[in-house]
Amino acid sequence: MKIAILPGDGIGPEIVAQAVRVLERLRADGLPIETDTAPLGGAAYDQYGDPYPEATQKLVRAADAVLLGAVGGPQYDTLPRDMRPERGLLRIRKDLNLFANLRPAVLYPELAGASTLKPEVVAGLDIMIVRELTGDIYFGQPRGVHINAAGEREGFNTMRYSESEIRRIARVAFGIAQKRNRRLCSVDKANVLECTEFWKEIVSDEARHFPDVELSHMYVDNAAMQLVRNPKQFDVIVTGNIFGDILSDEASMLTGSIGMLPSASLDERNKGLYEPCHGSAPDIAGRNVANPLATILSLAMMMRYTFGREDLARRIESAVQAVLARGVRTADIYEPGSDKVSCSGMGDAVMAAL
Ligand code: NAI
Ligand code: MG
Repeated sequence: MKIAILPGDGIGPEIVAQAVRVLERLRADGLPIETDTAPLGGAAYDQYGDPYPEATQKLVRAADAVLLGAVGGPQYDTLPRDMRPERGLLRIRKDLNLFANLRPAVLYPELAGASTLKPEVVAGLDIMIVRELTGDIYFGQPRGVHINAAGEREGFNTMRYSESEIRRIARVAFGIAQKRNRRLCSVDKANVLECTEFWKEIVSDEARHFPDVELSHMYVDNAAMQLVRNPKQFDVIVTGNIFGDILSDEASMLTGSIGMLPSASLDERNKGLYEPCHGSAPDIAGRNVANPLATILSLAMMMRYTFGREDLARRIESAVQAVLARGVRTADIYEPGSDKVSCSGMGDAVMAAL
């Protein structure tokens, strides 16, 4: 298990340090884990003048999986666009061809009070959004701003998906649905957009290979509404890049707490980049108060999707659940009466539970 560790900027090094303790524990239990660390983002710019330097490229290409903290910070906001930390992240996704972005929205019962929705609407929530990450209107050509035939300025982007791009993300989503509750909802805007009508046709065709999964279709505007009306009607959702960007952010907030949400981005062979959904939180960096659980839960996803070790994924997730059940809380999920701990204190609690 070759794992590249990219701590990144801001709280990145603090939260990643806690996840690395979990990896060390698994290694002590006999797993063949090899780790190597490299800079990405602002840290890499400071050291090499490039947010995704050669040394980091070599390391991540040779690894089976990558664990990333977060990148970015106000001190880098005045750099040219190509030198910004966030560009390092876009380049690594493209470089590794990470086309499948998996974002689970799971509400831990102990944190039910943190959601902005009524407890009965979100209690027991456990859905998975599969977002295509390397195509769609974000990358389609032509794009730009020009002067049109009438002499007026106009802006334009192109929504574009090839058949093979749709088939491969559909297969990932069907495969995940098979391992969950065998229900997949494909989200489109087929009533208006030809590109997504094509999406719907191809996803429906792929369903032939997954007869045990019940496939449904929903227009994206309705899906946005249904996610807050009755989110538990969904099991797995699959959609294109732009709809997935919006719906996954919406779904993540059902759980109320950004410090709890992991993510995975996978390539064709399940090599993956695993990272928390949140950013580098410069406002709390260096104070040992960040919540490391999203990063630790990202490791659980790594065990599940890249290494096929459902048992280890469950072991990590159960440890997190046990810690929450015991009332251990970092500041972002603190409620009066619970036991407030630091970032490393949360790491201690998870290690004890493991
Ligand atoms: P952010 O997610 O870093 O922070 C938003 C708010 O959530 C802040 O108040 C922060 O303190 C809090 N927060 C985030 N993670 C937390 C954790 N683990 N524990 C406790 N509180 C937490 O988003 P923001 O402020 O918009 O961006 C800050 C920087 O991060 C920017 O440079 C941005 O570009 C970058 N960013 C990087 C991402 C990545 O590396 N994947 C994703 C999103 C933003
Ligand atoms: Mg987004």
